[in-house]
Amino acid sequence: MDGSDERPQAASPEGQSDLELEAVHARIRVCTLCGLHASRTQAVPGSGPVPADVMIVGEAPGFNEDVQGLPFVGAAGRLLDTLLEQIGLSRQQVFITNILKCRPPQNRDPMPTEAESCMPYLRHQFRLIRPKAVLVLGRHALERMLPGVGSISRVHGEFFMRGGVAFMPCYHPAAALHNGGLLNDLQRDFDRVRSYLDRLLPAPEPVSTAPEPIPPGGGQTPAAETEAAAADPTEQLTLL
Ligand code: URA
Repeated sequence: MDGSDERPQAASPEGQSDLELEAVHARIRVCTLCGLHASRTQAVPGSGPVPADVMIVGEAPGFNEDVQGLPFVGAAGRLLDTLLEQIGLSRQQVFITNILKCRPPQNRDPMPTEAESCMPYLRHQFRLIRPKAVLVLGRHALERMLPGVGSISRVHGEFFMRGGVAFMPCYHPAAALHNGGLLNDLQRDFDRVRSYLDRLLPAPEPVSTAPEPIPPGGGQTPAAETEAAAADPTEQLTLL
């Protein structure tokens, strides 16, 4: 015995969430709840850190995602990466997943029964990721996540508060690849998410080592200021 403490260390809350997320993803990889398991190459649970301030939810894996087992790795994914970069976020900082975790044959639209089978996985991911903002990409994700709020062309770029989390519908990047006219809207909507996060999150530590002047009020950020950024009297608690 060298006197060191060999008792097992309790996992941190982050470590616990990591393990639980990995367990959810392991279940997704062997899921047979709907018929899509028969035609998939592999399931695509999602990728990114836990927790994450931003969660992105698309429709379903396509050809490339089905082959690689990762979300948004084709042309739409490259556009998504660019849009994220333009607001100072990298793929490593956000959690990306889809409503459906398996590719529908020929990339057909998700069927309601398939989405219903898959939603418990998304709910579980959402609880573990604890995002501050959720980007809802495209009309299929919108129908599932914010039913009844209106069409994607009408509500894209609006924030819908649910349980203190800001949900924003955006056009799907694949739609913008087909119709370049949607790209400006998509960029503007991502900019709004950046502004929202900037109001909500503490400013990054200054890099200077010079002593900081003490601001009036002793440097305390009034709690009300950060809360006001997220508060919305129309908030409903219906989702997730
Ligand atoms: N489109 C989606 O909705 N999800 C993906 O993962 C890829 C393309």
